[in-house]
Amino acid sequence: MMVILGIETSCDETAAAVVRNGLEGLSSVVSTQYELHERFGGVVPEIACRAHVENTLPVVQTALEEGGVGLEELDAVAVTTTPGLIGALLIGVTTAKALCWALELPLLAVNHLHAHIYAAWLSGEEPTLPAVSLVVSGGHTSLYLTHDRLRHELLGGTVDDAAGEAFDKVANILGLGYPGGPPIEREARDGDPAAVDFPRSWLAPDSADFSFSGLKTAVLYHCLGQNASKRDIETAEHAPGFVADVAASFQEAVVDVLVGKAFDAVERHGARSLIVGGGVAANGHLRNRLEREAARAGVSLHLAPRRLCTDNAAMVAGIGYHMLRAGEVADLAVEAHP
Ligand code: KG4
Ligand code: ZN
Repeated sequence: MMVILGIETSCDETAAAVVRNGLEGLSSVVSTQYELHERFGGVVPEIACRAHVENTLPVVQTALEEGGVGLEELDAVAVTTTPGLIGALLIGVTTAKALCWALELPLLAVNHLHAHIYAAWLSGEEPTLPAVSLVVSGGHTSLYLTHDRLRHELLGGTVDDAAGEAFDKVANILGLGYPGGPPIEREARDGDPAAVDFPRSWLAPDSADFSFSGLKTAVLYHCLGQNASKRDIETAEHAPGFVADVAASFQEAVVDVLVGKAFDAVERHGARSLIVGGGVAANGHLRNRLEREAARAGVSLHLAPRRLCTDNAAMVAGIGYHMLRAGEVADLAVEAHP
């Protein structure tokens, strides 16, 4: 039996979790900084770092208390070391190193994107491997060929904006606040997905890469014209029906491309299953479309549980268990990489 403490500070969530044997969550604490970043329409690195400095130890302490686990009962500490904001990563990494040094525990250096994929295992399902994995988050839109829980071969990624970033920027254009995914999903329920024919960027026919910046610009031009300034965005007032139609049409365009490219990759690589994780995977419309397409194509679909799509430390502690079993322990001198 192994009890692992996970720590996650790669972006704007300070998170800690205690997980037993890679699957059994004893606690999962997430402290978000949304209100701190909201008026800037996105994450401000300096503000994120300061909040992590203040929150990391209390969040770790709460996770241990809620999990009913004392420091002496831990078998290892897992921490996200890459990718993310460098200053933000460093705070989690330094905390984890200090704990490992003081308690003489193994340190597990976790890749944040691999942890988003591992979140699918936390649903209790066992994907048939190899699988294609799609990670859709605020910083990344990546497709992998997943050979096992720890081995992911990158097939493609975004050449400009990530899918979540596009949700955040379009929400900003529509005056819906930050983070943009949840309010766009909400607005889209009352809108017509065919109201505006926004562009779908497929790149080359066999490409596993993504591009969302053209879509974001198309939304901006549609809402405010070609010469819109930052001030126009801040002061614009849109009719409710208009906002709902733009949100629904934008969401439809993103989902079309994500679903299309994910299943193309499954077919191209002869994979048996598709794994989907990351913040945008919390989107109900995306989840429905993926389920429909998986049923049609006879592919087994493994979605990360909704509450484990956005950043959390349960996925970090969970994958850490498998790294520990595989002997993939990090040196205390391991560095964080953006
Ligand atoms: O994985 P995550 O928490 O952080 C990163 O690793 O980046 O993803 C955050 C992103 C944000 O861009 C947010 O707008 C998006 O996930 N997101 C959503 C939804 N919930 C969060 N996007 C679409 N629909 C949602 N329901
Ligand atoms: Zn993430």
